[in-house]
Amino acid sequence: MAQERAIADLNEAEAGAELARLAGELARANRAYHQADTPEITDAAYDALKARNAAIEARFPHLKRPDSPSDQVGAAPAEGFGKIRHAQRMLSLANAFEPEEIAEFDARIRRYLNLVPDAPLAYTAEPKIDGLSLSLRYEDGVLVHAATRGDGETGEDVTANARTIAEIPVRLEGAPALLEVRGEVYMRHADFQALNARAAETGGKSFANPRNAAAGSLRQLDAEITRARPLSFFAYGWGALSEPLADGQMASLKRLETLGFQVNRLTRPCDGPAALLEHYRAIEAARPDLGYDIDGVVYKIDDLALQARLGFRSTTPRWAIAHKFAAETAWTVLEGIEIQVGRTGALSPVARLKPINVGGVLVSNATLHNEDYIAGRDSRGQPIREGRDIRVGDRVQVYRAGDVIPKIADVDLAQRPGDAVPYVFPQTCPECGSVALREPGDSTHRCTGGLICPAQAIEKLKHFVSRNAFDIDGLGAKQIEMFFADDQLPIREPADIFTLRARDAANLTKLKNRDGFGERSAAKLFDAIDERRRIPLARLLFGLGIRHLGEVAAADLARHFGGWRVLIDTVDRAAPAAARALAADEAEQAERARAATEGRRAEVKKARDAIWDDPPLPEGARLAWEEIIGIEGVGAVLAASLVTTLTQGRERASVERLVAELAEIQPPEQRSTDSPVAGKTIVFTGTLTRLTRAEAKARAEASGAKVAGSVSAKTDILVAGEGAGSKAAKAEALGVRVIDEDAWLALIGA
Ligand code: IVH
Repeated sequence: MAQERAIADLNEAEAGAELARLAGELARANRAYHQADTPEITDAAYDALKARNAAIEARFPHLKRPDSPSDQVGAAPAEGFGKIRHAQRMLSLANAFEPEEIAEFDARIRRYLNLVPDAPLAYTAEPKIDGLSLSLRYEDGVLVHAATRGDGETGEDVTANARTIAEIPVRLEGAPALLEVRGEVYMRHADFQALNARAAETGGKSFANPRNAAAGSLRQLDAEITRARPLSFFAYGWGALSEPLADGQMASLKRLETLGFQVNRLTRPCDGPAALLEHYRAIEAARPDLGYDIDGVVYKIDDLALQARLGFRSTTPRWAIAHKFAAETAWTVLEGIEIQVGRTGALSPVARLKPINVGGVLVSNATLHNEDYIAGRDSRGQPIREGRDIRVGDRVQVYRAGDVIPKIADVDLAQRPGDAVPYVFPQTCPECGSVALREPGDSTHRCTGGLICPAQAIEKLKHFVSRNAFDIDGLGAKQIEMFFADDQLPIREPADIFTLRARDAANLTKLKNRDGFGERSAAKLFDAIDERRRIPLARLLFGLGIRHLGEVAAADLARHFGGWRVLIDTVDRAAPAAARALAADEAEQAERARAATEGRRAEVKKARDAIWDDPPLPEGARLAWEEIIGIEGVGAVLAASLVTTLTQGRERASVERLVAELAEIQPPEQRSTDSPVAGKTIVFTGTLTRLTRAEAKARAEASGAKVAGSVSAKTDILVAGEGAGSKAAKAEALGVRVIDEDAWLALIGA
């Protein structure tokens, strides 16, 4: 940077020239920071340029440029890779570990498709490659982009890197006009060892396992580094297509092979669970000699028309499953048991272990689930580990199943130290001292401190900013912990996030002058927060972190209510009924404990009904409650949690403070607007003959309809199968349109 002159010495012409220079330099720094990979100047140098620009403008206000850097805060997200939205979502697979689960998988598919028990059903089985998935988009046979999976909707643009991988063709002959190839990037053992050996010689970074090496090599901002790394690629599927590759999975893979892709040679057609398991054992036996890592076998329905009928759950296909290999295990010492408090107040015991390598990963923590698990019994009081309890000081067997947190499989009593004592589960919350209650029928102790418990408050905030909730750039778990503990600019509840900019402006010490923040990063954070003042209803609901309210149920609620005020009004009206439902549950539990025998079911029901009906609930409360529990996917447990949480004074006040900060709570998108049933509420009753219930529901939802469990004045259509009874009568009485299965199929165009 040129020697800078004191601002007081500048004449008007010089000041104008200096402002032009600063505008250019700051613009270049912005570009380097936001679009390229490496910032050219430090945060501090950038801030100094901006300050100089502002000072000159203050002295010569009439020289302020139309493109003045003072008017520009932040810019596009500062991320190394561009983003690519997948034309078709990249999903993951459901896991299975036991042979019985494979029989269940087959049975589930047969039920869903309504197949007779002996009908043939063709599958394919192939190794599950332990690498990272990649989507390659070819237009007119030319590779136009490559994207990692990311969150399944949007991935990172790694096109330049993918082009350097020899096994990824950049040009295809005879491919469909549009072809997205999906597969796994991985590193062969020999290449991995050579890479690490080279790193050792040159003092470079070595990788823990081939998967990490593959991920680290693909996600390089400099494609030349990727080129120097030996990566391989297996194609196992496809995304968007302009025309089908073939009719079946197996034939489609053949076609991909013809087009020039590597397809795993251990892929086999199988005619049912027995054949699948046989091939699983064959692959497991071949595993040590494959020369690359696999972590299981993937089973897929071969017929693509059946795949289409089976469709997807929220994140996994119904037509495929990953049969994982047995977990790797190792023995180590349990050095301590710590209690972590989650966002709903659940106390989770965590094993602190003497660090041990389990299948290539260093493990020092494992989950211990709950009090019963430590004591050696399951939720029904039956012994696990033949009743052996777990004590601090024990030698324990640790295992990792898939990517999940390590667990403890067993304990070696022969090596138990003489002074080891049974573990006593704490009766108070270690974070806030409130009573930790374990309710009848629940295996978990819960802190009763609610929002006064700092651990719950922090975990709730972390959840609030997480990817599938508010997803605020630059505000992750680490920053939440920092702000939570901060006295000058604290974030203690969600609304505080949205008042951060205003509070910072009013404060003497600014965020930008603090550790880890500069002017740009502070401005960027405030902008990222402002961006989320418009939020889809489902994300808001999910973000509140209400117990039992997952993403799918949040979407169901959002679709049903369409707006925040409608929802909260219904919740308020349902409050007396929710309280009653909980009391009725309690009465039922108590009576059940007293009766303890099946023969006295009538008493149990009587105890429950007595609470429900006396004194009579206001009609509005009952109707509101029934509306909520009538939403498909929302049961009484979730409904009670939703209503009691949102009507609890402190909690509600906090939610209202948040809502007041938001600019718009967006209604859910209609999933399919051109369908005549979009937005309609449908109820199915009776026996359907051409579709199973699950398939009917999935298809209705895919057409944008809501599926409810019971008929009410809000029902638009009742689809009456064979033997439809009381629901059909009720629908007629209410004047709801009733149609049969064929008419329904015609209506949705199936
Ligand atoms: S099929 C709709 N086949 O496993 C999802 N996946 O746990 C279709 N994977 O994200 C995935 N080998 O990265 C499929 N032969 C194979 C696979 C495979 C590895 C990975 C893939 C996926 C993950 C799911």
